[in-house]
Amino acid sequence: MTTASAGKRIAIYAGSFDPLTNGHSDIIRRALSICDQLYVAVAINVNKQPLFPADERVVQIRRALGEESRVEVRAFTGLLVDFARSVSATINVRGLRTVSDFENEMPMAIMNRQLYPGLETVFLAASAETAHISSSLIREVAKFGGNVSPFVHPSVATALVTRFKKAE
Ligand code: COA
Repeated sequence: MTTASAGKRIAIYAGSFDPLTNGHSDIIRRALSICDQLYVAVAINVNKQPLFPADERVVQIRRALGEESRVEVRAFTGLLVDFARSVSATINVRGLRTVSDFENEMPMAIMNRQLYPGLETVFLAASAETAHISSSLIREVAKFGGNVSPFVHPSVATALVTRFKKAE
């Protein structure tokens, strides 16, 4: 633990964020009430072909979150627990929307705790307004020209329109 991080409750919130949705932003905002510093960790998954490259997703998230000194956005590869250790995080924030989220999340929470007992996974229930949103649904709606502006930050909506125009 560095001197700067001593005594601080540091949390991570990891995901692909391809793209960031209002559901993610809701979890990020609420996570700030249970930690002093939050790292939004953008996963670089070599097995996935993302719509937006990781560096673009990082920029999109920074832009959407605006000035918030307690949030840092970083891309990471490899194990989540290794990223958590590298930033001295003790809290792993996860959002829960549905029963299937719970089924996916439980084994990861248990595995992560076995890999790094110093990291506690904390689940935040998605808000009613965002519980139906997922990045893949947003990508699909945007791809076929649907209006995604109720579900994502305006800058993300613009990025989606630009991305799919390019693909035409
Ligand atoms: N609101 C809106 N959408 C949400 C959401 C919320 N509150 N919570 C999750 N989602 C969406 C995500 O956008 C994603 O949607 P998509 O599948 O349509 O793209 C989906 O729900 C799954 O989200 P998530 O569980 O965050 O998956 P992910 O693929 O984005 O990220 C990692 C999973 C990165 C956390 C996980 O793979 C990981 O830890 N990887 C690192 C390697 C590792 O350590 N592996 C061992 C783990 S035990």
